[in-house]
Formats: sequence, structure tokens, C-alpha cells
Amino acid sequence: MKRALKIVGILASVVIVLLIGFVVFVQARGIPNYTVPTLTPQTVASTPTRVELGEKLVLASCADCHLNRATNSLSGHQLLDLTPDFGQVYSANITQDPNYGIGKWSDAELVTLLRTGIGRDGRYRVIMPSFSQMSDEDVSSIVAFLHSDNAMVKPDPTPTPQQAPSFLLKALTNTVMKPTPLPTAAVVAPAPTDALAYGRYLVVGRYKCYDCHSADFKTNNALEPEKSKGYMGGGNRLLNTQQQEVVTRNITGDSETGIGDWTEEQFAKSVKYGLSPNSPLAYPMPKYSALTDEEVHALFIYLQSVPKIQNATPEDKPAIALR
Ligand code: HEC
Ligand code: HEC
Repeated sequence: MKRALKIVGILASVVIVLLIGFVVFVQARGIPNYTVPTLTPQTVASTPTRVELGEKLVLASCADCHLNRATNSLSGHQLLDLTPDFGQVYSANITQDPNYGIGKWSDAELVTLLRTGIGRDGRYRVIMPSFSQMSDEDVSSIVAFLHSDNAMVKPDPTPTPQQAPSFLLKALTNTVMKPTPLPTAAVVAPAPTDALAYGRYLVVGRYKCYDCHSADFKTNNALEPEKSKGYMGGGNRLLNTQQQEVVTRNITGDSETGIGDWTEEQFAKSVKYGLSPNSPLAYPMPKYSALTDEEVHALFIYLQSVPKIQNATPEDKPAIALR
């Protein structure tokens, strides 16, 4: 008996020492640095078509985090909708200011960050989403826009405050949260005429609808998005800027809890203007007002084709109670 107690005591001390070691290690290391992967080609050719598409993509997928709506500049702000468990995180100033923005970043450095989450200094930008399934052409368009003469990216000398990640976020980046690898081959979007394939591309690559609309960020699979838990079935608990919970909705083709009984017109109004037949859609659902009819159609066709999931999200409750 005494001996067993002694062994337990020794084991407990070992565990405590290891835990203290881990805490000290994480605190000292912070968010880890990585070797910056090298990319070819090194420069992105800017064309008016790319700059125009880049503006549309930035408004759809970057503005909610990076745009200061008072000044219409991508000078960044504190992410008020981030769980306080992660500490205080600020989206960076991504205007062309050489000291406070990304004025010194090369095209290749921007592409690397967008693909992997690794910055030009090697620091992992963990809260910044990575766009690993986006086509090379779309990524190039975003970079061409960031380096264009558009007013939103004009040098703005607003400093980005020092990031204050919590111990939890630092611990996660030292264990499970990792940069995504650079694609090993060219990433080419399917032709818009193939609505099903194009719709899939929009959902997993261009707009990353799946990231918010699957069960949880923690169980999403960046490299094989369809393997994300509850793919497109909603239920991911997000926050708005007042830190109130907003649950994402089921947008699979299930007719009771998803959008299986919707018309394409109802879908278009929801996605572009937030006018869902269930109720107006609030932040953080983006307003994709610049979607083309072709994109809306492809999204609709594809979403109706994904495996149906029966998952009632909060807006379904009144409708179900009426039956
Ligand atoms: C969920 C919010 C969010 C979205 C959406 C987002 N970002 Fe970020 N981004 C961040 C945060 C937070 C950082 C800073 C992270 C850090 O320093 O740790 C960042 C950093 C960056 C940086 C690095 C700047 C620097 O100086 O370190 C660039 C460039 C950037 N984002 C571009 C973009 C682009 C382009 C898009 C859209 C395609 C985008 N971001 C979408 C949150 C976001
Ligand atoms: C940043 C996270 C986020 C992204 C990205 C996102 N959504 Fe949403 N979406 C939400 C949230 C949150 C709601 C619920 C809003 C509410 O309850 O007011 C929602 C609601 C919806 C609804 C309404 C469903 C219903 O039953 O009323 C549709 C349709 C929708 N999203 C489609 C899309 C599509 C298509 C995309 C990609 C083009 C997309 N969403 C990308 C967060 C997101």
C-alpha cells in the first residue's frame, strides 16, 4: 500500500513538473515562428481585370476583419467578435504604408501568407484565415488589388497595436493549430459553366462558406473540406461584435432544417442582401452583394447536392413548433 502511494506520488510530481515545463515553454515561446517557404513565381502581374476581381474578393472575404468603415481604409482594428479566451487580437493594417502596413511586403510574401498563414518575418498569423483552396488566379487578383492605387489600400499610417494572445491561444499554436502547407500543384478554378464543380469551388475555395457553416472551426479540415464535421450543416457558434452568440445555419438541402425547400431567388436575396425567408441575417454572415448570377446559381446547385444533414439551428425552432 505504502509503496503504491509512493509510486502515485512520484508520478504526480512528474506530471506537475512536466506541466510547469509546458507552461514556461509556451510563455517563453509565444506564437511560434516558421521558416518562410519560398515561392515561384515571385511576382504577380497586375491587370485591370485582376484588380477589379481582387476588390470584389477583398470586400467579400477580408473587409469584415480589416476595413475601418469610418475611414474606408484597410487599416485594421481590434477583432471584437473573437472569443475573449483567445486574448486581444488586432487585424493588421494592410494598406501600403511602408512602416505600419504591408508597403514592404513582396507579392510572393503576400501569397505565402494567404496560402499558409506564415508572415514575411516567419511569425504565424494564427487568427488570419488561410486560403489554401483558393485558385492561383483569385489569390493573384487579391495581391494585385492590395498593390493597386485603390483608395482602400492607400498608405495609412495607423499602427497595429501589439497583439496580446492569451495563454490558451499560445498553447494551441504550440500544439494543434498549425499553418497550412503551400499547394503542391497549380490551383485552377473549374469553368463557371460546370455549375456543380464551380459551386463547390466557391464554397471551399473562393468564399470559404464551409468554414463558418460546418459544425465547428476546431473540426474543420482545411485540406479536405468535405471531411469537416457537419459539412454545411450549420451550428457553428460564432460571436458578433457585442460578444453575443450567433449560430450559423444549416444550408444543406435538407428541406426541414436546411434550404432544400428554398427557391433560387430566396437564396440569392439571403446571400447577397441578408434577406432570408427565416429572418434577416446578422453579422458575421457577410453580405455578398457583388455575387454574379452565375455564382449564385452555382452555389445554389452545389449546396442542394451536398449530403443532406438534419440539424435544426435556432431559426428552425419556430417553424418546427408550428407543424
Ligand atoms: C477573421 C478575420 C480576418 C479575415 C477574414 C482576414 N484577416 Fe488578415 N489578418 C487578421 C488578423 C487577426 C491578422 C493579424 C494576425 C497577427 O498579427 O497575428 C491578419 C493579418 C493579415 C496580414 C499580415 C499583415 C501583417 O503586417 O502582419 C495580411 C497581409 C492580411 N491579413 C491580409 C488579408 C486578406 C487579403 C484577407 C482576405 C482575403 C484577410 N486578411 C482576411 C484577420 C483576418
Ligand atoms: C464569417 C462566417 C460566415 C461565412 C463565411 C458565411 N456565412 Fe452564411 N451565415 C453565417 C451566420 C452567422 C448566419 C446566421 C446569421 C443570423 O442568424 O442572423 C448565416 C446564414 C446564412 C444563410 C441563411 C440560412 C437560413 O436558413 O436562413 C445562408 C443561405 C447563408 N448563410 C449562405 C452562405 C453562403 C452561400 C456563404 C458563402 C458564399 C456563406 N453563407 C458564408 C455565417 C457565415
